[in-house]
Amino acid sequence: MLTSLPLKQIPSLQRILIRPVIVSLFDYCGSWSEPYRRAGYRVLQVDKKLGFDIFKWNYKAIKPGLVGGILAAPPCDDFASSGAQYWAKKNHDGRTAASVRLVKEILVIVRYFKPQFWVIENPVGRLNTLIPALKSFGPWYFQPWQFGDPWSKKTGLWGVFNKPEPAHITRPGKCARKDSWILRLGGKSEKTKTLRSVTPQGFAYAFCKANPLKDCIPVKVQRRTS
Ligand SMILES: C[S@@+](CC[C@H](N)C(=O)[O-])C[C@H]1O[C@@H](n2cnc3c(N)ncnc32)[C@H](O)[C@@H]1O
Repeated sequence: MLTSLPLKQIPSLQRILIRPVIVSLFDYCGSWSEPYRRAGYRVLQVDKKLGFDIFKWNYKAIKPGLVGGILAAPPCDDFASSGAQYWAKKNHDGRTAASVRLVKEILVIVRYFKPQFWVIENPVGRLNTLIPALKSFGPWYFQPWQFGDPWSKKTGLWGVFNKPEPAHITRPGKCARKDSWILRLGGKSEKTKTLRSVTPQGFAYAFCKANPLKDCIPVKVQRRTS
């Protein structure tokens, strides 16, 4: 394959092949990984809805040195404080244990790749109680409105990463539930659940800016306007 390429294209192909990969776990929409993709990094989205089950994905087929960063937004249904009234039932019927296994699998993958940065995103909840190994890694909380998206959804980050600098603050202080379209978006359908869980774009760009990868060709990226 390589031999049939014009010689002058080989260096650019080699440059692409040595570019670090971003592994984006539990990423269906691609919103958190989008700034990396647009900056020229290679991004691998792993999500059940895209046909990749984290437990079946053969991540060991990728050499550890190739993965520069890991983003992970695991399901929060069984952790978030907003659903605390169901915790006892979920502890009993195995849903809590199943969700804990998903997060522990992230840690297994992180240990294998040893990336330059890794980060897990989840709303306010009981992650540190259920997975004490995470206690020394977070949470660091942010609000979408701190990064230009005019709604509130207090979200925590755990991991080893540079904290994005809040910029484009769109509203001061704490937002009430009535101010947040995302919290008012009720319903249990897959569509509303997906909408509620999309990573806010302003935060995604700020995170990428604060966590560039070494050995990558620097490309200036700007937030999408449309
Ligand atoms: C909280 S949502 C994260 C959505 C993400 N922020 C986005 O913008 O698409 C959790 C995601 O985990 C995925 N998921 C659940 N179980 C999974 C599994 N075993 N393997 C891979 N993905 C899984 C779901 O399909 C869902 O898209």
